Amino acid sequence: MTAPPSPLLSDDPADAVAALRAGRLAVLPTETVYGLGADASRPSAVARVYAVKGRPADHPLIVHVADAGALDRWAAAVPDYASRLAAAAWPGPLTLVLPRASAAGDHVTGGQDTVALRVPDHPLTLQVLSSFGGGVAAPSANRFGRVSPTTVRHVLAELAAALVPGQDVVLDGGPCGVGVESTIVDCTGPAPVLLRPGAVSADEVGRLGGVQVVAGRRAAVRAPGMLAAHYAPAARVVVLDVEALPEHPGSLTGDPDAGLLAPRAVPTPSGLVRLAGPEDTEAYARVLYAALHEADALGLATVLVVPPAGGGLAAAVRDRLSRAAAGR
Ligand code: TXA
Ligand code: MG
Repeated sequence: MTAPPSPLLSDDPADAVAALRAGRLAVLPTETVYGLGADASRPSAVARVYAVKGRPADHPLIVHVADAGALDRWAAAVPDYASRLAAAAWPGPLTLVLPRASAAGDHVTGGQDTVALRVPDHPLTLQVLSSFGGGVAAPSANRFGRVSPTTVRHVLAELAAALVPGQDVVLDGGPCGVGVESTIVDCTGPAPVLLRPGAVSADEVGRLGGVQVVAGRRAAVRAPGMLAAHYAPAARVVVLDVEALPEHPGSLTGDPDAGLLAPRAVPTPSGLVRLAGPEDTEAYARVLYAALHEADALGLATVLVVPPAGGGLAAAVRDRLSRAAAGR
């Protein structure tokens, strides 16, 4: 016997469009993680996103749009390198922070003078966005500070109680293909600044935009998702060396209920529950959050993690792991 389908769930983009038009919430699949979406032009709808997520109101949201043609509606100024980035990387896991136009109200920008924009690469959500026509403000569809969802099961486990069946919709687009949140680039100055690492590497941003990424942060730009403690499961996360496990990992945890997330090449010492053994960096990113969710579902007290080596997406995975480790 399988459980009856949740009345929240749908695989029809039209249901999500109807929810957005009615000022309700639509959880949308993207290639990175699931987003908790609302009509970006309706403050009351966006206010519910903050309430359901438990997120402080001064944390800005990403506005998801159907294509780069929407840039001029939401952004007041678009430097050439940002136009090139949009043309080359959208739809895709890249978010551009730009000076906001009046369409981007305080309710989505957290009162900042900038707006974050992205065209997600998922066929169902692209249908939703083009049919809806407006912008969809959407943070990751998890409670504030917790692990992002990469399947509808994760979404329902965390948010079902706060969503209203028959009014809000969770659009099932299958497991997310990338698995970690988009790269965020500040495009408010003469050169791009990396605010959050993701699948599009800093090198790629420089190459696609034609202007090298510069280090550092502009004082005026706040990206609160970059809090040290974020993306955290209930289990304690212990990040080990990139190369391998120590000989006696049990001594690290002092705890019998520990899980292991490590590349396939790393064997599982006896006593540890293997949560995942991804083959390569892409697979690692794809299973990362599912493994952390699984650790909590199993009631594990600790997760030992051997992170992937390398730059780009591997660096993004290590970034999220270090924040998960700081979470408890
Ligand atoms: O892949 C993603 O980006 C996913 C999917 C759903 O698109 N979204 C996502 O949203 O990760 P969220 O809200 O969990 O993280 C967005 C990050 C936050 O850290 C926020 O501070 C930053 O984007 N952000 C949003 N608007 C910003 C702005 N105007 N300036 C600087 N940072 C901004
Ligand atoms: Mg998030």
